Amino acid sequence: MTRNIYCKQIKSPPEWILKDKNFLQNVSIDRAAAGHKIIDPSDISEELHSWLSQFNLELMFTELLWTNKGNGIFLHIDELDPPNATKINWVYETGTSEVFWYKLRSDNLLQKHGADSDYPHLIPKREDCELVHKQRVGKGFLFNAGVPHEVWNYSDSMRYTVSAGIREKGCEKRISWDRIEQLLSNVLSD
Ligand SMILES: [Fe+2]
Repeated sequence: MTRNIYCKQIKSPPEWILKDKNFLQNVSIDRAAAGHKIIDPSDISEELHSWLSQFNLELMFTELLWTNKGNGIFLHIDELDPPNATKINWVYETGTSEVFWYKLRSDNLLQKHGADSDYPHLIPKREDCELVHKQRVGKGFLFNAGVPHEVWNYSDSMRYTVSAGIREKGCEKRISWDRIEQLLSNVLSD
């Protein structure tokens, strides 16, 4: 069996990481399309900060991603430094969606997009990608965003993801998959 380096459930993560329980209903976004928005640190719950702190981790940023019904989030790799693109994601949905991870056959053909924006990412060509893993993501999952991935929302309802970029305290870069898997080894399940 291949090792799952793509997505793992955290046992007993903070259930809700936003201070305002009505945040998703009230946030001003274009729900007619899929999109992305950085969440202000003041909107994040104290519970998340203290949960991370017990593992010597801290937040780098938090963002909201949303996918309207029947659509998805395009195939991409987060950031311009793929090995350090591990996140913790909370998916809020009433329908069904899946995330697909792909193995890159070659990294010569990556196109950089939005390098100067708050959402730098890489777009691989589909023909360079081979499907290696698919999974439904729930609330409190370690998520490898440094591997090509895409989301499909098959349902007739909205899908929201609150996503946290994480680093070890005192480090500049986002934590790698191997390192965070090691730090959270006692609280992860496949
Ligand atoms: Fe992503």
